Amino acid sequence: MYNLLKGKKGIIFGALNDKSIAWKVAERAHEEGAEFVLTNTAPALRFGDTHILAEKCNALIVPADATSIRDIENLFKETEKKFGGKIDFILHSIGMSPNVRKKFAYDELSYENFQKTIDISALSFHKVIQTAKKFDAINDWGSIVALSYIAAQRTLFEYNDMAEAKALLESIARSFGYIYGREKKIRINTISQSPTPTTAGSGVKGFDGLLDFTERMSPLGNATALECADYCITLFSDLTRKVTMQNLFHDGGFSSMGMSSSAMQLYNKSLECNECDYKNQSELEK
Ligand SMILES: NC(=O)c1ccc[n+]([C@@H]2O[C@H](COP(=O)([O-])OP(=O)(O)OC[C@H]3O[C@@H](n4cnc5c(N)ncnc54)[C@H](O)[C@@H]3O)[C@@H](O)[C@H]2O)c1
Repeated sequence: MYNLLKGKKGIIFGALNDKSIAWKVAERAHEEGAEFVLTNTAPALRFGDTHILAEKCNALIVPADATSIRDIENLFKETEKKFGGKIDFILHSIGMSPNVRKKFAYDELSYENFQKTIDISALSFHKVIQTAKKFDAINDWGSIVALSYIAAQRTLFEYNDMAEAKALLESIARSFGYIYGREKKIRINTISQSPTPTTAGSGVKGFDGLLDFTERMSPLGNATALECADYCITLFSDLTRKVTMQNLFHDGGFSSMGMSSSAMQLYNKSLECNECDYKNQSELEK
């Protein structure tokens, strides 16, 4: 441990269970000397394990639906009360698509669901930052991080309307990063993380195949939730004060790859199999 966050205070959104990326960030932030408030929706707090994490990290839990300005305002008020002053960092680790959950295909989307996806997974980021600014809740040189995915730039089968949500999320980091940086020296970045086996991640159809593919394609292998937490800690620390308005790939190199030897080998093998199947089929038909 390096005491990288000694004396720093923050808010962490999205720790549901010990698989959650936010859970690992909270554990690492605690180890690095930070104090923080944990928040999630009331139902997630009822069904999830956040209370276990709160006990472990000596953190206050404040329920908030990140789509509700009222809830977010209450969260900042309670946080200010708890710490008696401003905070230094915020983690936005929130994602949910009712279209993915209810298995609506991208070319048969429910627009009502689509709006919810955008509100929960992207606009909530704007709402949190705008409320923080309104309350002047963050110290100068503070840091805000949200978690994104490469589907913002490239089309990935079955990621559905979450792709649009992530594109908007990354754009909000740039647009607000300019304003908050100029006025308060506060930095805003997104981390584009490898596929990670969490509750949200595993909800994407074909997730196991995707995980194997990206593992094969990434020279350093997939980045784990704990490794993502380590990266978040550096972004909350004073070692990255001039990094802002960036979408930072944390994916073992996947985003720069076209084809790898390991993926090619598997692809060739499956072609051979297809050929065998085809030959066997032709034999049978004779
Ligand atoms: N798991 C992956 O493969 C992966 C990859 C790249 C990026 N991400 C992103 O990481 C973030 C965290 O997801 P995770 O993988 O840790 O899964 P997770 O399911 O553990 O976390 C998602 C969290 O969002 C919370 N949430 C949903 N609706 C909310 C609302 N209205 N208000 C407040 N919170 C709400 C959930 O309660 C949950 O705690 C998400 O933004 C996700 O898109 C995940």
